Amino acid sequence: MCGIVGVLGDHEAAPILVEALKRLEYRGYDSAGIATVNGGHLDRRRAVGKLVNLSDLLVHDPLPGKSGIGHTRWATHGAPSVVNAHPHQAGPVAVVHNGIIENFRELRAELAAKGFHFVTETDTETVALLVQSYMAEDNTPVEAARLTLGRLHGAFALAFLFDGEEDLLIAARKGSPLAIGHGDGEMFVGSDAIALAPLTDRITYLEEGDWAVLTRTSLEIRDATGNLVNRDMRRIEVDSARVDKGGHKHFMAKEIAEQPSVIGEAIRHYMSADGNSVALPGDDLDFTAIDRLTMVACGTAFYACLTAKYWFEQLAQLPVEVDIASEFRYREPPITPRTVALFVSQSGETADTLAALRYCHEKADQIVSVVNVPESSIARESDLALPILAGTEIGVASTKAFTCQLTVLLMLALKAAEQRGTITPDRLADLLAHLRALPNTLNHALDQNAATERAARKLAEASDVLFLGRGLMYPLALEGALKLKEISYIHAEAYASGELKHGPIALIDNALPVVVMAPRDTLFEKTVSNMQEVLARGGKVLLITDAAGAAEAASDTWETIVLPQVDPVLAPILYAVPAQLLAYHTAIAKGTDVDQPRNLAKSVTVE
Ligand code: AGP
Repeated sequence: MCGIVGVLGDHEAAPILVEALKRLEYRGYDSAGIATVNGGHLDRRRAVGKLVNLSDLLVHDPLPGKSGIGHTRWATHGAPSVVNAHPHQAGPVAVVHNGIIENFRELRAELAAKGFHFVTETDTETVALLVQSYMAEDNTPVEAARLTLGRLHGAFALAFLFDGEEDLLIAARKGSPLAIGHGDGEMFVGSDAIALAPLTDRITYLEEGDWAVLTRTSLEIRDATGNLVNRDMRRIEVDSARVDKGGHKHFMAKEIAEQPSVIGEAIRHYMSADGNSVALPGDDLDFTAIDRLTMVACGTAFYACLTAKYWFEQLAQLPVEVDIASEFRYREPPITPRTVALFVSQSGETADTLAALRYCHEKADQIVSVVNVPESSIARESDLALPILAGTEIGVASTKAFTCQLTVLLMLALKAAEQRGTITPDRLADLLAHLRALPNTLNHALDQNAATERAARKLAEASDVLFLGRGLMYPLALEGALKLKEISYIHAEAYASGELKHGPIALIDNALPVVVMAPRDTLFEKTVSNMQEVLARGGKVLLITDAAGAAEAASDTWETIVLPQVDPVLAPILYAVPAQLLAYHTAIAKGTDVDQPRNLAKSVTVE
């Protein structure tokens, strides 16, 4: 997703803007640019590709000035090019934008009729021209921005800079997050607190519909109706380690390796003091008072929800519906007052998931979210936000966030089971003990790195890969396929093992690797039959199992990755690790950009 930064500072703005944009690289982008006002003159520099190209440009063609805005663009309208890169400028105004202006064609036509000309294919240029048109009618910059904001439909985070205005920034937020940073005699704007961390830890988050007028010594925030409002200024802890790969080659490798410790954090956070039950913040989440749980998310977070469906239904006998967020509200599902709506999102800013949450407002008994960013939009619009404590996740492919989501969701399912009396105290204590031992078990799974690397070198030769899993391993197969495809660019898909005979078996030949995820559980024998069906047709099976499973499975598997034995309930958290390592090493073998794979963004803040 696009990243926005702005500064009204007492130092040269260009290096500050570029450094802040580097802290937003994890969001994914394909071009970047900055604009500054110097001696009253507004100017800009833009470059396609990585930020280093912009930095090189600034060395040869410096951009002085202590007031500025910057942007990393993830193309929505118009190809990645210098012309389409932000900031967009129209006469005396420059603007940077994250989001989509849904009525930009109508506005373009109106502006064209007034004689304004366009040089780009972007919706953002329309915003700049609209401000220019209002300023041409003798409106002040602030008034022109206010009039413009009232015309925009869609999702946007915007920052404006004006010719002749060395001490003025205007920022606005509708659907895409935007933070204001408070300095000492300086002010900043950023898409998130991470971008501003080196500059300040004093952050004010704009609320939906807010717009702000900043000078170095003042901040005026108005809501969508134009009323002056106060928004809290918070002290934000941003772990400085986020810019450090900790000696690993990639953030993804670091974040895979961090899983034992961050999962341990999550377990301790939600474990009661005596270790015999689950402790949730507050006590108003009562699973006995509801008869349905609706879970909504996107991508990897959706697969965490699919996994949790098995846990809530098997452990708590609670009916669960799981939906992909982009489909949910258009399906218009009936949400009764005896439903808890639960939203899972690493970033807490995914537009589809946030929109689904808003659909459930006023309908569901409670809105609960499981997020990695406690001050995110989804967290702030929930009745109860449960942090997953994974720490900042930079790699676009979600790894530690996924397993921390699973951990928190499992503990939530255990809480539900305890409240609903569907689990014995002994079994609860048994599972909690296994959970406490899980970080150590995960370390053993990480030890399988060499076997996974060997298997990955074979996978890297394939153009298609099939993942199979039964029961709790089916959502894991889906997640394994997503991990592989999103960072190695190899086409991969997943099926419930039992579905093989209903079509996918037609794909089996000696060119198609089949990754089978199967601990030696009650479903293992059925999965072994599926494996035999694949082997009998010349298919190549890469089996991920435990020692008992490896002993029973066919000896002629292509590769076998053996994990420690673990209670089948906890298997999804453990089996996520080899799936992540498989994807990681395959991507390395393919030479793709592991941390910032092509076309992808870390947080999809547009629909
Ligand atoms: C997962 O590896 C992807 N990065 C993507 O599917 C991601 O899980 C999805 O976009 C949801 O993001 P969120 O958890 O921040 O809402």
